[in-house]
Amino acid sequence: MTNRVYINEVGLRDGLQNQPNPVSTESKLKLADALIAAGIRQLEAVSFVNPKAVPQMADGAQVLAGLPTIADLTVAALVPNMKGYERAKAEGVKSVAVVLASTDTFNLRNLNMTLEQTKATCQQVIAQAKQDGIFVRGYVSGAIACPYDGTTPVDLVHKLTQDLIEFGADEISIADTIGAGNPQQINDILGPLVQQYGADIFNLHLHDTRGQALAMAWAGITQGVRRFDSSIGGLGGCPFAPGASGNVATEDLVYMLQESGFETGIDLQGLRNAVIVAEQATGQSLGGSVVQWMKSQELRKQKNQSPCI
Ligand code: COA
Ligand code: ZN
Repeated sequence: MTNRVYINEVGLRDGLQNQPNPVSTESKLKLADALIAAGIRQLEAVSFVNPKAVPQMADGAQVLAGLPTIADLTVAALVPNMKGYERAKAEGVKSVAVVLASTDTFNLRNLNMTLEQTKATCQQVIAQAKQDGIFVRGYVSGAIACPYDGTTPVDLVHKLTQDLIEFGADEISIADTIGAGNPQQINDILGPLVQQYGADIFNLHLHDTRGQALAMAWAGITQGVRRFDSSIGGLGGCPFAPGASGNVATEDLVYMLQESGFETGIDLQGLRNAVIVAEQATGQSLGGSVVQWMKSQELRKQKNQSPCI
């Protein structure tokens, strides 16, 4: 089993979509540059949704146009429907993500479609993307719990995953959108899926609302999953999922993985710098536990004290 882990940074999309104050395109691009400088090579950078529903994502085209051209950089756009897909395609995006939530209520609140309508939309977008040679990720959103209807049955997660795979999705992201899960649930969900489809097509998208995200990521590792979403500084939340806090912080995830002997290609000090840029962009104090620790080390250094092990 490989020691390489692929981190998909979703701070620019999942992280910023919920920000109360507008974040300028220029600030987003500065953050992207800092993330790329830290070694991030997968960015879910934008979504092409109704700008009235999510004003923070209205500048998707400008963000994409401003990103540097780097050969091994993958830039993805979340698209809720065909209109979003066509907008993304027009901007030259090579990777899109569709979102299928686990209940009618969540799909309706998020996308104004029932579960069956969303499923049909996903099928249509995936089919078109395959025809166009565009990579498609399918999110199974609310895979642990729906913010409105409670716990999601494991069988349903398996069924929705199977549907998305049958439609032709290249990757499935199991998303604990509101951070309600625990490591055992990750084992229960992934065990049969990995057995059936192999681990390589799965990604985990974890929010840290109850402090379980790292433990759940580790459960994913033990199941063979090597693909994870995270947000710089723990940014995040969904305007349509009350109670959701930020994604697992990229720096915490990278630290855990690197200390455990996995390769991410990402530099922790670079992430520390990116947290500062994210703080400037949002006007918020950010950072996972590892950043707090790095800050305390920086303070000790300033005072000429020896590092705290
Ligand atoms: N991008 C931009 N505009 C879009 C769009 C898209 N992907 N899809 C629809 N629209 C526009 C329509 O053109 C229409 O515009 P108008 O008011 O100027 O005529 C308006 O949105 C309503 O269109 P309709 O097809 O009736 O959509 P809706 O009101 O049923 O909303 C979504 C459906 C999916 C567009 C909307 O719920 C949405 O954007 N949700 C995104 C939620 C989100 O980002 N969640 C977090 C990530 S999962
Ligand atoms: Zn999320």
